[in-house]
Amino acid sequence: MDSYKLLITGGIPLMGETYVSGGKNTSVAVIAATLLSDEICVLENLPDIEDVHVLIDILRDLGAQVEYQPEARRLTVDPRGVNSCKVPYRQSQRMRASYYMLGALLGKFGQAEVGYPGGCSIGARPVDQHLKAFRAMGAEVKERGAKITAKGKMVGNSVVFDRITVGGTINAMLAAARAEGNTVLYNAAREPHVVDLANFLNSMGCRVKGAGTDTIRITGQKKLHGSTYTVIPDQIETGTLMIAAAATRGDVVIHGCIPTHMESLTAKLLEMGVAVSDMDDAIRVRTVRGHRAVNIKTQEYPGFPTDLQQPMSAMLTRASGDSVVIETIFESRFKHLMEMRRMGAQVQILDQTAIIQGVSELYGAPVTATDLRAGAALVIAGLMANGVTEIYEPGYIERGYEHIEEKLRALGADIRREPLEEG
Ligand code: EPU
Repeated sequence: MDSYKLLITGGIPLMGETYVSGGKNTSVAVIAATLLSDEICVLENLPDIEDVHVLIDILRDLGAQVEYQPEARRLTVDPRGVNSCKVPYRQSQRMRASYYMLGALLGKFGQAEVGYPGGCSIGARPVDQHLKAFRAMGAEVKERGAKITAKGKMVGNSVVFDRITVGGTINAMLAAARAEGNTVLYNAAREPHVVDLANFLNSMGCRVKGAGTDTIRITGQKKLHGSTYTVIPDQIETGTLMIAAAATRGDVVIHGCIPTHMESLTAKLLEMGVAVSDMDDAIRVRTVRGHRAVNIKTQEYPGFPTDLQQPMSAMLTRASGDSVVIETIFESRFKHLMEMRRMGAQVQILDQTAIIQGVSELYGAPVTATDLRAGAALVIAGLMANGVTEIYEPGYIERGYEHIEEKLRALGADIRREPLEEG
């Protein structure tokens, strides 16, 4: 249980300029990929967030030499000292992306033993497609107790994913990067972080083609050299800030983002009546009139991202009319809406569909974050509500949003921490 809660006094439109940090889901993939190199790698623009800290602990435990400069957003990894292929459960359950250690260790050393991954509780989250890819490349994979062990020389092969999986695609790319011969991934995920990983692997001398389409071809290399690489900005943080600006009827310019990654969200905001203007690497979001209700169906990229469904559905609780939100990726991603009922939100939830009847007012109430994006959604709810919202378990938010409180305060939000009383 976190030792503090967040207090937000809502009703203040966000105004001004802000910036986006490096991508969480791209950083965790690229950090794991440094293990594949035979030389030192330097990663720039990494966000200073809990998930990055956990992966650094894991790299150090494996024997890598790691220098982390959070203020400079820079991580230097020398993987030459790695002398273990085991990530114990106590470490792996601290985050979801610990499963990338399987692909990276298997790819480099032909063996890996990794405890089951943790991460947000948003559904069952099996890893069968990851394991299917490893097996196709020649690994013998066992799931026993709370760990997965995989062993075998990686040999390139074709993998047809039964469903689109970001983690499965990335793990297969990691395992294939040093495999003997060619690997072809069909029905691959097309997310920006898949492309970023491909670019990083290519900068180390790998040959990855087709990332960003549903077919990725990887020619494995015997050796991969060092690289200095800058990770892309966070698509989901950009979207969360865009929604926060719109939801508070504010006017915010978000610098350092990639507007083309935001097209599905931008289209929905425009449909709601929000003004969105794209610049080269910035987006301005402002509300010029009331918001109309819209329907959302989450899909793999380039569809509407599940990670923005929660912030977006929080905003829709105050749109005019009824919105239908269908969550197709994860089973259990509406817990923030259940919490928001206490704030006056009118919501019916039937399995993976939420029907939201917009209300004219939300009011502050105590609510609990149950996962990272639920936490972000509740922050947006608090910013919209009249009165004071208390958010318990805000530590989830730190796992994925760098300095979010400071960024929101700089835009005028009244958000602060308060220690929890003992007992
Ligand atoms: N799935 C399977 N079998 C598998 C893999 C996935 O059935 O082997 C299912 C999942 O249960 C889910 C769907 O396929 O229903 C998609 O899962 P995917 O593998 O794409 O998700 P993930 O890799 O576990 C990543 C992000 C999530 C993001 C999803 C979807 C990381 C570390 N996590 O998860 O990010 O929601 O892709 O875009 O990259 C977040 O940032 O808050 C977050 C949860």
